[in-house]
Amino acid sequence: MAGEPAASVKLEPGAGLKIPRHLGVIMDGNGRWARQRGRRRTEGHVEGVKSLRGLVEYCITYGVSYLTVFSFSSENWSRPSEEVSFIFNLLRRFVASDLQRLIRNNVRVRIIGTREGLDPSLVKLIDDVEAKTQANTGLTLAVAFNYGSKAEIAAAARHLGREVAAGRLNPDDIDEQRLGDALYTAGMPDPDVIIRTSGEQRLSNFLLWQAAYSEFVFVNEHWPDFDEASFLRVLDTYTRRDRRFGGVGEDQR
Ligand code: IPE
Ligand code: IPE
Ligand code: MG
Repeated sequence: MAGEPAASVKLEPGAGLKIPRHLGVIMDGNGRWARQRGRRRTEGHVEGVKSLRGLVEYCITYGVSYLTVFSFSSENWSRPSEEVSFIFNLLRRFVASDLQRLIRNNVRVRIIGTREGLDPSLVKLIDDVEAKTQANTGLTLAVAFNYGSKAEIAAAARHLGREVAAGRLNPDDIDEQRLGDALYTAGMPDPDVIIRTSGEQRLSNFLLWQAAYSEFVFVNEHWPDFDEASFLRVLDTYTRRDRRFGGVGEDQR
């Protein structure tokens, strides 16, 4: 309206931001978050689950279609056994307590990683949550649990090798699409953005193949402190990035 001060124009949160189709998150820093507060590392993992709930909500609100979170790496087995079992129990509790809410929110859950070495009762739980949410059409939440990207690629190579040996596949037909389809993330687009919290700047064996053209955003806060404002800051950073995919930038043509 004429004469109305510009300051009164209220933008919707997230307006003007480019929304990634697929977001990957390395949820790091739970242990340090807890230690800095004189608490046990495991308490940091409990807080981390709360941040994950928040993140799922922001992804739904802002229209992210795929969210992949790194929750336990194949290398994390080297931690003290009490911490490992605590994290495993946390996954069980998360599935049990959040399943109904995820179903209500039309979230499809996939647990990516190897089932090898997991307790049969945990495998059953994982299969169950995948089956119960399979028909959902909203956000796809992929939880990378007992996941290592090098092992994932090696497993894909074994699978293709077996197909060749059985005479079902011509080696000349092994291309990027075929290999991609043999990974745990088959059917998902590659991540547009990968966030890592707590200041570390490495992938630690997360989505090596899939990250070929991802934008990396490293943030300093520990995972339990990652909130909606952090999420919006990441989207703002992503919006300003110029993704060229080997081509030339808009302003260079
Ligand atoms: C991330 O937090 C969660 C897992 C790896 C399971 P960390 O437990 O790695 O926390 P820091 O990095 O030691 O602070
Ligand atoms: C990567 O974090 C794995 C997860 C967040 C689940 P780590 O804490 O295990 O990675 P490094 O050891 O610092 O590289
Ligand atoms: Mg860590």
